[in-house]
Amino acid sequence: MNGRDLVRSVKAVGSGGAVQGLRTVRAAWRRRRADAAGLPRRGAERARVPGPVQGAQPGPGGGIVRFARTELRIRVAVNGAVFWGWDGAEPEPSYALAGRCPAPDPRAVLEPDKDGGWRVVAERVTVAVSRHGAIEVRTPGGVTLRRELPPRWWEPVDGGGGRWTQRSEVASDARFFGLGGRAAGPRLRDGAYRLWNTDPGRPFGPGDDPLYITMPVQMVVADAATHLVFLDSSWDGTVILREGEEGAGSGHDRPGSCEVRMEGGPLRCWVVVGTPARVLRVWASLTGAAAVPPAWALGHHHARWGFGSAREVRRVVAGYREHGLPLDAVHLDIDHYDGHRVFTVDGERFPDLPSLAAELGRDGIRLVSIVDPAVKAEPGDAVFDAGSAEDAFVRDASGRPVEGLVWPGESVYPDFTDPRVRQWWGGLLQERLAQGFEGLWFDMNEPVSFTAFGENTLPRSARHALEGRGGDHREAHNVYALCMARAGYEGLRRLAPGKRPFLFSRSGWAGMQRYGGTWSGDVATGWPGLRASLSLVLGLGLCGVPYSGPDVGGFDGSPSPELYLRWFQLASYLPLFRTHASLRAGRREPWEFGDEVLGHARAALDERRRLLPYFVTLAHLARRTGAPYVRPLWWGSPEDRGLRDCEDAFLLGDGLLVAPVLDPGAGRRTVSLPRGRWYDTETEEVYQGPGQVVVEVSRARIPVFARAGAVLPVRGADGGLELEVWAPVRGRAGGGLVVRDAGDGWGEPEIESYTVRWKGRRLVVRREGDGSRGEPGCPVRVRGVGDGG
Ligand code: GLC
Repeated sequence: MNGRDLVRSVKAVGSGGAVQGLRTVRAAWRRRRADAAGLPRRGAERARVPGPVQGAQPGPGGGIVRFARTELRIRVAVNGAVFWGWDGAEPEPSYALAGRCPAPDPRAVLEPDKDGGWRVVAERVTVAVSRHGAIEVRTPGGVTLRRELPPRWWEPVDGGGGRWTQRSEVASDARFFGLGGRAAGPRLRDGAYRLWNTDPGRPFGPGDDPLYITMPVQMVVADAATHLVFLDSSWDGTVILREGEEGAGSGHDRPGSCEVRMEGGPLRCWVVVGTPARVLRVWASLTGAAAVPPAWALGHHHARWGFGSAREVRRVVAGYREHGLPLDAVHLDIDHYDGHRVFTVDGERFPDLPSLAAELGRDGIRLVSIVDPAVKAEPGDAVFDAGSAEDAFVRDASGRPVEGLVWPGESVYPDFTDPRVRQWWGGLLQERLAQGFEGLWFDMNEPVSFTAFGENTLPRSARHALEGRGGDHREAHNVYALCMARAGYEGLRRLAPGKRPFLFSRSGWAGMQRYGGTWSGDVATGWPGLRASLSLVLGLGLCGVPYSGPDVGGFDGSPSPELYLRWFQLASYLPLFRTHASLRAGRREPWEFGDEVLGHARAALDERRRLLPYFVTLAHLARRTGAPYVRPLWWGSPEDRGLRDCEDAFLLGDGLLVAPVLDPGAGRRTVSLPRGRWYDTETEEVYQGPGQVVVEVSRARIPVFARAGAVLPVRGADGGLELEVWAPVRGRAGGGLVVRDAGDGWGEPEIESYTVRWKGRRLVVRREGDGSRGEPGCPVRVRGVGDGG
């Protein structure tokens, strides 16, 4: 038992008493025993490398290069993404792609390269394979973006799949991003990053890694180009990153390096080269478009572990109303369940949920329900009985259902990697809909089993269907939550076909955006936690998951009024804007922190509501283009090295730059600005990028800047759509996109495109495209003309 395990078991004892503590010890032993009996023993291993090249054979989109001890398939897809797979690996089956494998590009050709190697030349990328199996990804201009050294396998001598290592080099100026949700990013500094979805078991800060969502997806930004790499194996692994150095040693550049060590799974890879926007567009076309949440989910949510009763929910909602604070959703945590059992309701404390839901609904407030995967292992529990009859629960190697320990006590786990189980479980959501819930919050799906020592998840030997292929938890662990999200999404689509499902899930994997979003999990209350919140949202966005946000105020403890306010202000510009905290934490309602905080929180809520049409537009653009709402400052100018290192501000869509206050007592802060003119949205003061500026900071707001020429859809005073237009520099034009949405449903709203240009001393705003007469058709408010242009 190491220090952290000890903390965990003490915490478990603290939360559930001595009995719970003993149970975690028992659960840990049980898990250890299951693996001792059920996992293949690691015996003698043999190392393998590809060996010398022997020949090549063209095929669709590229071809196959044969080596003495393996072969390499290279295939460029029509969308420009490059796939390669060793040992005959194909793109499918893949949990990330889920049937979306694009067709090969017939124009890509395989041809001999120098020194006996081969290369595949495509429109946007060249892939060169050396005669020993190193792979270089080059721009069409011939600049090498990434060089993969020949891989190395370690395989059991008596057969079966093995471990592998892949080392690569990138440019000395390259910066790494992604790998899922990492608390210490978004720029991933030198270090080891594990690929194993993990509940840290306590509130986390920037030093905690891994967390709930890990993904073998990296975005690498360098002068020559940006590229995304995805190693499509869901097994446990570690990525060791080392940034390069310019002019290192005797004046020579040292390249950056990345070493991936995987415990198993195919060695196959996707690479996409281009601008950040293009790279994520292609990534979305590979792994699926991001689900668009209903418009209400882009408003403000209030959650709490421990509302404890319908009365308390009413009291909090009344507080919002009385203080004139907009509220769009209330989330019920596990304390509304009967004995923490999923798909039940504590009828004493929440006597009539459907009425409560209807009552809130009249004020435009939706109810969202937490849903945990684990089912109490108790005959008589309706879900347990039904699931047992369905043979829905994960079994161990000897065929017995695997038991773990979660909130309801001894529990079993639906095998979401089985399509039959997904179908069955999706149907259970009918109960949630009947209670009046309109959205789902999936939790504990790493999946968690509380243990006093060892890993707090299922045994690695636990068996899973894996879509009929069969396998164990070593392969299924990282995709368990992804499959749960899929079951939820598909279930909701069947049960309420007219509505867009709203779900967000603590854990997940590459492709999870197809089903919904996520949140930061139990981020520790404190200034470092505030920073970690932003890092997670930015990093996940660069892995294709655009909708997320933190627990405002942090999960545990009691934030100071200042910290609470800064968190609130930051989150009001993030896709998921939700206050939430633990059972044992202090209050989180905006009026609990004094009148000053209340006033500023109200201003943040009002501004969020005013920007709602912009958020809705960003949600639709995320679906159609793969671009996250929240983007790093280098998004449009990855060549700006200073911006690559800037982690304390972000772009919200194309039009806004948000510079949150992340330190206590700040009276001013430095803001890095990308190229162009920027207006302070409050004062309309003009700033010029690229470069850094210092701005005064007050408690009242965090600095937000609008790009000159931006056209932003906002909500006017009468509730209708209004265009907020920020004057372009004289002689320049600007513009913006608007997607008007019915709020819910599957209508395909068109993307309206507006331009703004100077005509003499006047600014003219026009709607572009066929069929429109050029008039915007809604009020226009011009800003930033105070300086006379
Ligand atoms: C987990 C979740 C947290 C939730 C709690 C109780 O810690 O991350 O959000 O409140 O479980 O359900």
